[in-house]
Amino acid sequence: MSDKPIYLTRDGEVAEMVLNRPDKLNALNHEIWQTIPKLVREVADDDAIKVLIVRGVTPKAFAAGADIAEFPVVHASEQSATAYHNDIHEAFEALATLVKPTIAQIQGICFGGGCALALCCDIRYGDDTSRYCIPPAKLGIAYSLGETKRLTDLVGPSKAKEMLMGAKVLDADEALATGLLTRLFPAADLARETRAYAESLCGLSQFTIRAVKQIVQSIGEGATADNELSRSLQRAAFKGPDYREGRDAFLEKRTAAFTYR
Ligand code: COA
Repeated sequence: MSDKPIYLTRDGEVAEMVLNRPDKLNALNHEIWQTIPKLVREVADDDAIKVLIVRGVTPKAFAAGADIAEFPVVHASEQSATAYHNDIHEAFEALATLVKPTIAQIQGICFGGGCALALCCDIRYGDDTSRYCIPPAKLGIAYSLGETKRLTDLVGPSKAKEMLMGAKVLDADEALATGLLTRLFPAADLARETRAYAESLCGLSQFTIRAVKQIVQSIGEGATADNELSRSLQRAAFKGPDYREGRDAFLEKRTAAFTYR
């Protein structure tokens, strides 16, 4: 067990980024924000890793948001506040733009910056203990456009406003119904089901999975028709090893062994 507030573990082709401040419900301190891009880079650079799961170390919380106890220090001057918010922005961007698929595995409290971090993952699997809230209105702060967009893209403008204006807490059923949560499991099944999905991805074409991620990202940025990115991915696919292997495996009635990294 690491004593660091965030750490990476590897098991086969799946890595886990673990938030590790259980006595503070994994509140995200400055050190965590600064470490996230480094850990994400490690995952990106390691060809042996295909999928990243992000989770809290305690069943009580994914994360209870940014560490409010640090606010007086990080907001002591305009300079320190700018540096702090840049670090948070870089952490979100690093996770959201990791080329490999990411899954947030959510138990308990998933509030504020913790919820925003989960929104940077491709998929959110939660259990029936999970609760979701983004409460800037309780702190008198303005929420960033990037994070507001990620929430709005998932749940729609009306639900996003209801959550943000009212600091409304969603239980797991509501989070599933709004689309914030991708899938809901009983607490006893969450880790196993998350792992099973992650491992199922490892057996498929990483070229296709990463292409899906980039194209959905492009749609989120406003693309409505095929663009240079989607065309170049389609061209590259038919020249790549995974297409040949997938096609041959189907014709030869065997399981494909994809090699793209
Ligand atoms: N920042 C710093 N510390 C936090 C924290 C946060 N965002 N959220 C929880 N903690 C700390 C508490 O101060 C407490 O520490 P202590 O035992 O040293 O006093 C510990 O974590 C446990 O939290 P507690 O409030 O006692 O748990 P609870 O189950 O009664 O309540 C919450 C859980 C999530 C409702 C409550 O902790 C809370 O409202 N947290 C703030 C959430 C928030 O506003 N996040 C957005 C930040 S921008």
